[in-house]
Amino acid sequence: MGPVLLHANRIKVASHDSIPVVAHLTGILMERWFPIETPRLLLREIRAEDEDDVHEYASDPCVSRFDLWGPNTREKTHEVITRWLKIHEEWPRDESHLAVELRSEQKRIGSVSLYVKDRKNASAYIGYVFNRRYWNRGYATEAAGALLDSAFRVLRLHRIWATCDTRNIASARVMEKLGMRREAHFIEDVFQKGEWRDSYLYAILADEWFRLKSGG
Ligand SMILES: CC(C)(COP(=O)(O)OP(=O)(O)OC[C@H]1O[C@@H](n2cnc3c(N)ncnc32)[C@H](O)[C@@H]1OP(=O)(O)O)[C@@H](O)C(=O)NCCC(=O)NCCS
Repeated sequence: MGPVLLHANRIKVASHDSIPVVAHLTGILMERWFPIETPRLLLREIRAEDEDDVHEYASDPCVSRFDLWGPNTREKTHEVITRWLKIHEEWPRDESHLAVELRSEQKRIGSVSLYVKDRKNASAYIGYVFNRRYWNRGYATEAAGALLDSAFRVLRLHRIWATCDTRNIASARVMEKLGMRREAHFIEDVFQKGEWRDSYLYAILADEWFRLKSGG
């Protein structure tokens, strides 16, 4: 059986072989698309007991240097986790925050988020953040790649995008390694930590992702 879609107050079952266009236009996917296992990582729903691991990186000024948030106080991290847990009481939902656990250490080393911002056009954006002690080992690319794959295969989204500060070389590199296309360089579009910053916008379509995965 294909994924169950809620459409115009009726439940429909979509075929895996042919994706109904209507699903892209008005459907709300109800199928759970996580947890996800990758060779080294487990992406699973956030839990209250993740707070210490989250705070370890959320309180690090280097980690949030190119972001609007942070560095977090303990209270702020608690507030964010509480908000995420509240969001997670709802299903279906348009915003999901997954803990990224390093399977060999059973430690939560980061998080990835998916925000379905435009159901009508089946598009969403993603975000990711990792503990600095685990940078440059390919974990963000592995986790964000798994997220893209589920978003396209299970949620049947059409387009996924993400943005970063143009000075955030590592984040831009992750998106390039994933095969995302740089579509925009916005000039001073965000006022962040006392200054205007430029942003890059990267995006990828489902077709492009499947072609990449099949080596095409
Ligand atoms: C961006 C971030 C998630 C990347 O995580 P990560 O696990 O280190 O990412 P990966 O290891 O998969 O890839 C990082 C790539 O950036 C490259 N890189 C990192 N710093 C670099 C630098 N200063 N100059 C050039 N390349 C750099 C790495 O070499 C690697 O590329 P490679 O595989 O071609 O060698 C991590 O740095 C982070 O959490 N930053 C803070 C939060 C953040 O910026 N989130 C994104 C907001 S838009």
